[in-house]
Amino acid sequence: MTNLDLMEKIVSLAKRRGFVFPGSEIYGGLAGVYDFGPHGVELLNNLKRLWWEASVSARDNWYGLDAGMFKNPKVWEASGHTSGFSDPLAECKKCNTRIRVDKELEALGVTADEKMSEEEINALFDAHRAEIACPKCGGHEFSPAKKFNLLVKSNLGDFASEGGEPVYLPGEACQGIYLDYKNVVDSMHPKIPFGIAQIGKAFRNEISPRNFLFRCREFEQADTQLFVKPDENKEAYEALKEERMAWYQSIGIRKEKLRFKQHENLVFYAKDAWDIEYEYPWGFDELEGIHDRSDYDLSQHQKFSGTDLSYADPETGEKFIPWILETSMGMGRLFLAILADAYREDELGGETRAYLALSPKVAPVKAMVSPLLKNKPELVEKAKEIRAALSKALPGAAIAWDDNGNIGKRYRRQDEIGTPFCITIDFDTLGEKPELKDTVTLRHRDSGEQERLTVSEAAEKIRAAI
Ligand code: GAP
Repeated sequence: MTNLDLMEKIVSLAKRRGFVFPGSEIYGGLAGVYDFGPHGVELLNNLKRLWWEASVSARDNWYGLDAGMFKNPKVWEASGHTSGFSDPLAECKKCNTRIRVDKELEALGVTADEKMSEEEINALFDAHRAEIACPKCGGHEFSPAKKFNLLVKSNLGDFASEGGEPVYLPGEACQGIYLDYKNVVDSMHPKIPFGIAQIGKAFRNEISPRNFLFRCREFEQADTQLFVKPDENKEAYEALKEERMAWYQSIGIRKEKLRFKQHENLVFYAKDAWDIEYEYPWGFDELEGIHDRSDYDLSQHQKFSGTDLSYADPETGEKFIPWILETSMGMGRLFLAILADAYREDELGGETRAYLALSPKVAPVKAMVSPLLKNKPELVEKAKEIRAALSKALPGAAIAWDDNGNIGKRYRRQDEIGTPFCITIDFDTLGEKPELKDTVTLRHRDSGEQERLTVSEAAEKIRAAI
């Protein structure tokens, strides 16, 4: 299987099995927007819960937040996004396809720094124009590169019509944390170092959304911001990096598919920046950004809002603007990494099958219960009884029911969903062989092996795994 095949297979499985659908599909779609389907939302919620447990619940002095998306227009001026948050765009003169000049140059090993002026970028673009081809028509004639701001405008309140800035959708979710930092300090009285975590939506006018969930125009970010004393950033930064790398492995992602990469060109707010990269089907690429933002954000918001955002140390009385260490993970990028990491094909029972070797902790369905034959009321009734008993024994765990098609087909379907266990109720469960009465078959997804267990033994196996 080539890497491109793998990507196609993941996208197709995601749609076929109710994980991810293209947004507005019946109208021909909308580039860069995806919907999570019934199994997708379960998997996504499991990932969010595991992240929240590790980032908030299991840590001392960390606080959760869920900030509103619309913000005062001044926020994005203060943050630097209205002036500095742009990509250089050029248009093919033949077919009007838009390209990101920095990405095209990067593919040639040439760096177009975010801080460069349009003139400087165009000088680089001109020097390499012959090597850059339009991805659609192959032409080499482009308009000059122009900086294109990525913020998405709304018409909320329509301030723009009165000459003011429009209300933007969040270009990064973390701004909500900076705006509520003072409220958290005043209401929770945390002792520094302390952290605030949030999962929030972000919107970016990406010039070329691509690679399925990887580069979208609407996406979610799971962010943590650690507030530390000035200059007490180095050790905490290293610890955060290690914690985040270990977290990915704890949810089942293979270690060899993950690596750190330091940024050579820093975005406007960062003092130091590292990515955790995952090896996607097209190669290693950014999954999470870990940024040392120093006092940039709070100083900017203090300056633009006129509100004192310093922290008063309760022990020493010392006042200072805390420095911020950020971790920011794209939920869609994590979702895609999880699918790519779990996708497997093998031979089972003389047939080729595809399955998702998801960790039971993240799997959208934990177990499927099934009567061997659906036209035997006594089997169906017993299976329903056992499903109810399992749901009671495993509160909160998604226990599915499937009686469609033959048992082999049901197993294949669950394999593709990544369901770790299938439980089948047959005539022995009803007591045809008295010694097997009230036992079930528990099938393991990855090996296809089956074992005979009592219902409570099966429940215990599932509980231990999830
Ligand atoms: N607050 C910092 C920040 O927004 P970023 O590196 O621009 O930094 C953080 O974004 C993470 O958000 C990235 O590592 C990536 O996982 C995700 N992300 C960024 N742009 C994205 C896009 N267009 N589509 C999907 N995820 C994206």
